[in-house]
Amino acid sequence: MAYLLALDQGTSSSRSIVFDAEGRVVALAQRELPQIYPRPGWVEHDPMEIWRGQLATARQALASAGLAAGDIRAMGITNQRETTLLWNRRTGQPVHHAIVWQDRRAESTCAQLRKQGHEALIQSRTGLLIDAYFSGTKLKWLLDNVPGARAQAERGELAFGTIDSWLIWQLTGGAVHATDVSNASRTMLFNVRTNQWDGELLALLGIPPSLMPEVKPSSAHYGEVRPELLGHAIAIGGVAGDQQSALFGQACFRAGMAKNTYGTGCFLLMHTGAQFQTSTNGLLTTSAAQTTAQAEFALEGSVFVGGAVVQWLRDGLHAIQGSAEVEALAQSVPDSGGVMMVPAFTGLGAPYWKPEARGTITGLTRGTTMAHIARAALESIAYQSAALLLAMSRDAVAAGAAPLAELRVDGGASTNDLLMQFQADLLGIPVIRPAVTETTALGAAWLAGLSSGVYRSTDELSSLWRAERTFLPTLGAGRAADLMAQWEHAVRQTVLA
Ligand code: G3P
Repeated sequence: MAYLLALDQGTSSSRSIVFDAEGRVVALAQRELPQIYPRPGWVEHDPMEIWRGQLATARQALASAGLAAGDIRAMGITNQRETTLLWNRRTGQPVHHAIVWQDRRAESTCAQLRKQGHEALIQSRTGLLIDAYFSGTKLKWLLDNVPGARAQAERGELAFGTIDSWLIWQLTGGAVHATDVSNASRTMLFNVRTNQWDGELLALLGIPPSLMPEVKPSSAHYGEVRPELLGHAIAIGGVAGDQQSALFGQACFRAGMAKNTYGTGCFLLMHTGAQFQTSTNGLLTTSAAQTTAQAEFALEGSVFVGGAVVQWLRDGLHAIQGSAEVEALAQSVPDSGGVMMVPAFTGLGAPYWKPEARGTITGLTRGTTMAHIARAALESIAYQSAALLLAMSRDAVAAGAAPLAELRVDGGASTNDLLMQFQADLLGIPVIRPAVTETTALGAAWLAGLSSGVYRSTDELSSLWRAERTFLPTLGAGRAADLMAQWEHAVRQTVLA
């Protein structure tokens, strides 16, 4: 039996998972990652803590699988995207903490780019809307604010990378400085049509090209892990940003196939094939994980507050003791009793893009109980995801394709049956939960398995993917449309002025 090791470096934890060739989880190790908040709106990670924690979980996963590194055919890496790092090529030391994707410090640079009218150019090359979320303006901030960084960069002494590049660099002892197309596509510096760094965009942000890693397909030989780290060399054979990796791990390989990951936020991605398609409904165009040099794309939308609304019920309202209680509380009432919650705690993302919006609870009566509010909170996750999916379907139809036929789901809250049933009811299409819900790590393992010969094709991977449960819609289309209209009405209440 061939085994694959996936490293999954996320925002709140580092994990390593050993899979067998059938895609079953053999062992899993996890370590929390401390968050650093130097100022309001700023979020950082310690790069050395990321590296040490990730390595420790890889060792632990191998040990609990009872395997040696020599038993592993290849390693895949998947990671929190956009998080930006700059390090010294000679010493391997970071010049600053990593600036995390959630960090908003580069907002003024973005406002300036918008004012200068660069939006159309940036969207046509990168597929992205100008936002501090992406790596490019974070990298500019590092070059402008870390003493000596710009001069060192100009002398070719520094390397830029997202977390995948950082881990590859460390794992190969500085021998390889590389990233994959799906991570590169989140920097706002990468031309997703040509699969190359964009010289004009680098110049626009004052970024020396010598900083940039080599960009490879997501399934490719990246290099070898230094033998002393895990006891034996392992080939690094797959790399992808976590959301594109989950799309791959859900076997969404063809245009029109979509997945939603229900985590702290929700990330909905739909494969659009080889066609670069610009959204007219507020979504982003991004590179899908690619197994060859041929460009492949996805449309993406994200919900900022997904499962985080359950944390707020627990920590803000003290309505529940633990997150797991929410399903029972919500199920104790037949519906939300007309209560609608829009958890726009940090503004609304796609498809609304209203940074000034704030959360609302509407429809309260004397009969409203905490159970109704819990149900409305849970339902808000489904409403927000449905709004994204409807926007995606509109884009698909505008491009001459069919609307979405089904949605594959994963992530922590996808285990909540009530939520998944409501999601299917709102969407009017089947919502399918796979047998292996570790789809992010599975995607990276599959990418590594393809380049190392464990699998022959994506068709073979499709045949390995299995549904655990399918939630079929039970509401009529008219009732679902009424509910969505009520939701849109509630969304309009989130902006007061
Ligand atoms: O774009 C950000 C995303 O990649 C973060 O994912 O799962 O680490 O929160 P996660």
